[in-house]
Amino acid sequence: KQTRVAVLLGSTRSGSLNRRIAEHLRDNAPAGVTVDVVEGLDTVPFYSEEIDGDTVPASASSLRQAVASADRVLAVTPEYNGTMPAVLNNAIDWLSRPYGQGAIVGKPFAAIGATPTPYGGKWSHEHARHSAKIAGAVVVDGIVVDVAAVEGDPLTDEAKVQELLGALDALVAHEAEVAA
Ligand code: FNR
Repeated sequence: KQTRVAVLLGSTRSGSLNRRIAEHLRDNAPAGVTVDVVEGLDTVPFYSEEIDGDTVPASASSLRQAVASADRVLAVTPEYNGTMPAVLNNAIDWLSRPYGQGAIVGKPFAAIGATPTPYGGKWSHEHARHSAKIAGAVVVDGIVVDVAAVEGDPLTDEAKVQELLGALDALVAHEAEVAA
């Protein structure tokens, strides 16, 4: 059985370092694992109960479908002003509703990513885990990749690349524990 991992990108920049990380994981995923980078988070309107009714914006429903059909959720995100970027926060909000039945409910979740600053986005990742947990995800403990030690692009550091792939493996393996 293929394990499907939906990646939520916290950056919408075309030159995004975090997109390159996500695409590296996609292109180097182990056998049996399919990584889908969810596109279009920047086209999803800010969550409001007024637009989450009988009709839902197409961009929001395709986000929900992408996560509903996945077995795991991985946020790959930078950090904006000491927290996760609004585009990721908004995605979590859409995935948390209807309350208790959101697409992210029960999904093993992890948050990694990189910034070219000394902290490497650790608050962004902590906050994303916290918010996803409140939204109903099953945050997998211990999946923390510290890229702060790498100047610039962690994809140029083989050890870091292995750590990033290790994070994907740990997220995939988690369900096996629960299921066993
Ligand atoms: C940033 N950046 C940043 N980095 C960080 O480590 N901590 C922070 O609090 C912030 N704050 C912040 C705010 C705003 C508005 C921007 C645009 C940027 C730097 C940010 O992490 C950097 O631009 C990353 O490279 C963005 O990731 P992508 O777009 O390359 O994936």
